[in-house]
Amino acid sequence: MNRFKDKISIITGGASGIGRALGEELARRGAKVILTDINAEGIEQVAASIRAAGGRANGKELDVTNARDVEKLIQETATEFGRLDYIFNNAGIAVLGEARDTDLEQWRRVIDVNLWGVINGTLTAYKLMAKQGFGHIVNTASVAGLFPSALETSYTASKYGVVGMSKSMRCEGADLGVKVSVVCPGFIRTAIYDVSPVMNSTMEEFLGQIPDGVMMDVDKAARVIWWIEKYFPSLMALFLRKSIKNFRKIRREE
Ligand code: NAI
Repeated sequence: MNRFKDKISIITGGASGIGRALGEELARRGAKVILTDINAEGIEQVAASIRAAGGRANGKELDVTNARDVEKLIQETATEFGRLDYIFNNAGIAVLGEARDTDLEQWRRVIDVNLWGVINGTLTAYKLMAKQGFGHIVNTASVAGLFPSALETSYTASKYGVVGMSKSMRCEGADLGVKVSVVCPGFIRTAIYDVSPVMNSTMEEFLGQIPDGVMMDVDKAARVIWWIEKYFPSLMALFLRKSIKNFRKIRREE
């Protein structure tokens, strides 16, 4: 049985990385995909390439921090197709480096996109799906939403928020027929590592600090670290302090 066949699915942040791969895979499995992104040109290109491969996809420009636009897109989709089956709140950004080198504007932007963006997509879809009596909301958090993650503290704050709200709404939605899931990937090589600023250092040097193997072996790394944080938090703190120490070797003083 193909559970995605003909399913009406919205994806945010679909022009690149995980969102793009998700859109391609859903379309391959027969879903009708509404791909959205703040990058208008990029999202149209992705939608066009999915259509060229025989899938059904529309590309739409959407900034997830604009609550009114997000609500409009969700309502219009439901009106056009008579229902909404899935929404994947995937768009996200990061600022890397030590907290002392970041400013409030960067924190606001990260929380705005990563947490408010997910809230904007979740709440409207949740109410609509509760009325329908079915639907599935899938929010992308991160391993940084499961355990402390130094050198990306604003990102960690936003992702803990996404995990907390998603797990709570999962319980509320259960008897209403609405499923809420939260995905927590580890290090996956996407454009996020090209576009994110690294405060007082460079991305090249930052990535050079990540031990070999961690970048690929996502699931295993996430599970091991989660257990360490749960049962040996002081060991986790030691590990983080070591990464901070390493980062300070490449951090430039202002
Ligand atoms: P990416 O940078 O390849 O894709 C992110 C997409 O979001 C881009 O197309 C970008 O234009 C879009 N976007 C950014 N701000 C937006 C806004 N305000 N409104 C709408 N779209 C916006 O990054 P990637 O890696 O595919 O990230 C997808 C999600 O996965 C993010 O939430 C990220 O935090 C999360 N994640 C990624 C990991 C990784 O190692 N790549 C690890 C854990 C989580």
